[in-house]
Amino acid sequence: MNILTAGPTAGPTAGPISGEFHARRVQGLKAEVLRLVEEVIVEGVYHGGRRVRELEVVAGERWGGHAAATSSGTMALECAVRALGIGMGDEVIMPALTFVSTAFAVAAAGAVPVFVDIDPHTRTLDPAAAAAALTPRTRAVIPVHMHGLMADMTAIRTLADRHDLAVIEDCAQAAGATDTDRPAGSIGDIGCFSMWVGKNLGGLADGGLLLARDPALLPMLRKLTDLGRDGERNVHHLRGSRGRMGEIDAAVIRHQLDLLPAWTDRRRTLAARYTDAFATLPVGTPGDADKRPHTYYKYPLTMPDSATAGSLTAHLSRTGITTEQVYPYAVPQQPALRGITHRTADIPVTLGLLPRTVCLPLAPELTDEEADRVTDAVHAFHSARG
Ligand SMILES: Cc1ncc(COP(=O)(O)O)c(C=O)c1O
Repeated sequence: MNILTAGPTAGPTAGPISGEFHARRVQGLKAEVLRLVEEVIVEGVYHGGRRVRELEVVAGERWGGHAAATSSGTMALECAVRALGIGMGDEVIMPALTFVSTAFAVAAAGAVPVFVDIDPHTRTLDPAAAAAALTPRTRAVIPVHMHGLMADMTAIRTLADRHDLAVIEDCAQAAGATDTDRPAGSIGDIGCFSMWVGKNLGGLADGGLLLARDPALLPMLRKLTDLGRDGERNVHHLRGSRGRMGEIDAAVIRHQLDLLPAWTDRRRTLAARYTDAFATLPVGTPGDADKRPHTYYKYPLTMPDSATAGSLTAHLSRTGITTEQVYPYAVPQQPALRGITHRTADIPVTLGLLPRTVCLPLAPELTDEEADRVTDAVHAFHSARG
């Protein structure tokens, strides 16, 4: 498809198929990116200018909140945790299946990550597992909208309200996703987005966005992302971080914000093509949950066992198709967690799913021909096994 107009076009029919497509995406946007870079250079303002403000205003309007741009999803999470007053010894419940940043942000504030299991169908935080992990020290819960599908925010919000917990949505993988027509990031107290170049919506390298439901949180979020400053260059009110977004990234992300709906449609079309093609195979496919349409940041296939997953990965690799395992390890299995105070509940679903997961290439820039090569290769793998 032509990623500027979101229309279909012919694409490469041979050659390797990468697991990630951001290089192709930025190349497709090259003319517009160069125009924006030129504009910024002519204006001579590199941060804190009109482009960052415009991105914040438009994202806030579209996603229903009050936005502060920042330098990464990791920074967004760190600032959200601090802005909500979560600190030393507080417990924060999160799924064991997430990127390490969710846990690191909590640990950076001196709080304790509490890892719980996921729902086997959605791969997102299991609300019942979260409820079972509550203690008098629980202060917050961080649902992670995994692979582009939102966690069950109705159940999580209800749990949080009943126990007076803050809710931070980790929307790093779910820009543009919804739950019951409510956009990702608009249901919790703060939504944290990653705008890394490879995400569904991203700048040229790293970027992030905070979305607060309460506008009263914005001044604190801005201070935390700007070394504690509050407008005055030489006055630092608290220990903040160097967490600002640059004007060029803001301009590129703002441009992509208008393309996101068409890109999401294209992801859904490709996902449906995969799912249809795999209907007769012994594999699990991702899909919508009740009132939560998938946005397919990733397309995880669930194989019957880890050996078959490994064999499929090797087979696709020999065919020139790169797959990913998002993620190969649960966060509490990471070596870094040995040095971080944390708790882990029983996580059989997480541990059972991870080694059986093979994420197939999927991005708006993937051509129909490439998608067919992927489905053909998956079928060939199964035919060869009889
Ligand atoms: C679930 C999740 N949380 C947090 C992050 C951190 O975002 P960033 O890479 O922009 O710091 C990511 C990104 O990789 C992510 O996937």
